[in-house]
Amino acid sequence: MPRIAAVALAFTMLATACSQAPELPANADAELIEGSEIFRARCASCHGSSGGGGIGRPLTDIEARLSDAEQRSVVVNGRGTMPRFADVLAEHEIDAVVRYTREAL
Ligand code: HEC
Repeated sequence: MPRIAAVALAFTMLATACSQAPELPANADAELIEGSEIFRARCASCHGSSGGGGIGRPLTDIEARLSDAEQRSVVVNGRGTMPRFADVLAEHEIDAVVRYTREAL
């Protein structure tokens, strides 16, 4: 048992060292995984790979500042220099990326 724990710890440390993006919880479902992929492809360039901000604002504590509906509206319609994603992402993709930023960043 201790050996299994040590191997698990080593894998965790390796995974952390290899990726900059925050690790998904072990029980992440398909929607959360899809959200992380969309974030990496469409949002990280402005909001940072861990959501720490850059051209765009930090999203790490977004769930404390905007309601789910408010946040969805920014992504769908854009705001200021934040591009609108209504014509780029499908509804379920918007749901997935909004959930990812609220739960995983
Ligand atoms: C071209 C750069 C850029 C990209 C790409 C981008 N954003 Fe943004 N985002 C911004 C900027 C700039 C703001 C601040 C907008 C303002 O002036 O109010 C912002 C604001 C936001 C906000 C509101 C933050 C707050 O504190 O009110 C959310 C939520 C957000 N972005 C999510 C996303 C998501 C999700 C994606 C990917 C689907 C994304 N953004 C892609 C630049 C970007």
